[in-house]
Formats: sequence, C-alpha cells, structure tokens
Amino acid sequence: MSQSTQKNLLHSASSGKSGLNFISVKDVADINGLVSKALHYKANPFADRHLGVDKRIGLLFLNPSLRTRLSTQIAAANLGMEAIVFNVDKEGWALEFEEGAIMSGTTVEHVKDAAPILGQYFDILCIRTFPSLKNREDDYSELVMNSFMQYAGVPIVSLESSTLHPLQSLTDILTIQEHLNNFPLAEKRKPKVVLTWAPHVKPLPQCVANSFAQWVNAWGEAEFVITHPEDYELSPAYTQGATILHNQDEALKGADFVYVKNWSTYTDYGKIYSNDPAWMLTQEKLKLTQHAKLMHCLPVRRNVELSDEVLDSSSSIVTQQAGNRVWAAQAVLSELLNKK
Ligand code: CP
Repeated sequence: MSQSTQKNLLHSASSGKSGLNFISVKDVADINGLVSKALHYKANPFADRHLGVDKRIGLLFLNPSLRTRLSTQIAAANLGMEAIVFNVDKEGWALEFEEGAIMSGTTVEHVKDAAPILGQYFDILCIRTFPSLKNREDDYSELVMNSFMQYAGVPIVSLESSTLHPLQSLTDILTIQEHLNNFPLAEKRKPKVVLTWAPHVKPLPQCVANSFAQWVNAWGEAEFVITHPEDYELSPAYTQGATILHNQDEALKGADFVYVKNWSTYTDYGKIYSNDPAWMLTQEKLKLTQHAKLMHCLPVRRNVELSDEVLDSSSSIVTQQAGNRVWAAQAVLSELLNKK
C-alpha cells in the first residue's frame, strides 16, 4: 500500500509560518504510526522514490555530525530528493539571531535575511545547532531553531537543537520496537527501559536525554526509569512520568533496555559536578538486568561512558540503532513531502 494514502502522522504543533515542522515529539500525531512507517522503509527503502523528485532539501550544520548528516542524506536520496549540505560553521557567514542587534561585531548576516533565501532554495530545511551551555535561559529559548521556523517559510527539521534531538529519539523508539517485534518479552508486560547517566570528560548538552525522556513518556509503552547522580536532574518538562533513581544498581534491576548517555548539569547549568567512574556501564552491572540490550546514540567515549567489553558484546545494539537513523529520517521526510 502506498504510504501517501495513510493518515497524517505529523501535525502542526511547533510555531512558525511553514506549517509542519519536526522539532519535538509534540509535532508527532502518531508515534507508533511513524515507527511503523520507518520500519516499512527499512524493508522497502525505495517504495516512495517518486515522492521527492524535483524537490531539494538543505542540511545546515552549525556543529559537527557523522550519523545525522549521512543518514538524512541517504533518507532524502531514497525518496528521490536532492540534498545539499552546508557547513555553516566552517563555510558560511557568521549568523546573527538577536532581534534588533547592532551588527558591529563578528556576525555578518542576520537570520532574518538568510532564512527566507534558504526557504526559496529548498523545499525542506534541516538545522543542527548545539547549546552554548553558558546560559540556560538562552539555550532553552531555542532561538536558532525558532528563528528558522519564523523566517524560512518551509518545513524545518531539527537535526539536534539546543535542547532536543527528535530524529535520534524516533530512532531509539523504533529500535526498541524492532527488537520487541523480533524478540517478544516472554511475559505480557511493558519493557523496562532505563536511561542512565554516564561519566564524560567534558560538559555535554542535555538534548539526547531530554528528548529520549520526552519521547518515551509520550510513547507510554515502557516502564521508564532514569538514573543519575544527585545534581544531574534534567528538566521536569521532559522527565515527568518517569521514575527517577539516584542508585544506578537499583535502577538497572530487571531492565530490558539500558540507554547510556552523559549530560551536564541542568540546575547549575552546564557544569560537571561529580564525574564518578563508578557510573560507567560495565558487564558486571549488566548482570543486574534482564539480559538488557545496550543503547547509546554515539559517538561514545570508550572506557569512560561504557566499557569495551559491553560495547563489543552481543548485548550492544548501538550499530543497529545508528543504522536505523536512515529509516527514522526517511519516515519524517516522507510525511513532510506528502503534506506540502
Ligand atoms: N547521534 C548523533 O546525532 O550522531 P552525530 O552527532 O554523528 O550526528
């Protein structure tokens, strides 16, 4: 069956002039529908090759990427779209985002001038931008993403923003669902999914953890536990609905999926407090779980966040997870193309 005849899986939740966007789980009308669509594309990558013919997608990177960049390019190609990547951070003019800015400093071009032009060049515009981790209010205002939504006039897709990483989270849910489809739980119960903080050498954004929490809570089909040291609380705006434990061993008991991720402090913003190596996930800790599958968004610092033995074991599904980035992106782009 043609995917284009099915019901809308995205809806207009994010603000902006461009109608549909993909910025957070709030833009998704039907998570399971979107997961099914992604898995349909995994089985039939070129089923909708006609959909993007004569359409162009722009991928703007204000920060580095491996998986997001390449998987989104492949997803666009599978739909017949031409993709153009622009590394704004290295090749573009320094953009200004502040309303009313007197541009006598280092910024060269205001987003109010650049975004409408990009909206003429592209049918869909994708943006990656990281937080500064200096000022929480600024980062959580999502000025960059909101500015493109306001001024570009075409659908905007987040390739990771200051606070969220929705394509990663859709991938994460579909990887869990795929695993459950292939290996159903013996008992009729929800899978236990544990998001655990891990040590790291530098302060990282909260995006992946915020987003994973937001999506798993909205999905509602898991027993969801978040574990981290004290002082690493995430924003309750994303975690509400999850059980939060400061005892990692307690949290890991009986887990079916363990998602490992570092994040810096949210309350006293952007800091590393404790960086206790005892929080690194090891094979010994995995023994507490129900033969849990191990997830990470990558890139990963080996033997800091996760031990080699865990990453190289059959428990790890990180390669499957990263491979699934293509199908998540393809499902989202397909929805945006269908609705244009
Ligand atoms: N997980 C993820 O977003 O990877 P990249 O930073 O390589 O895109």
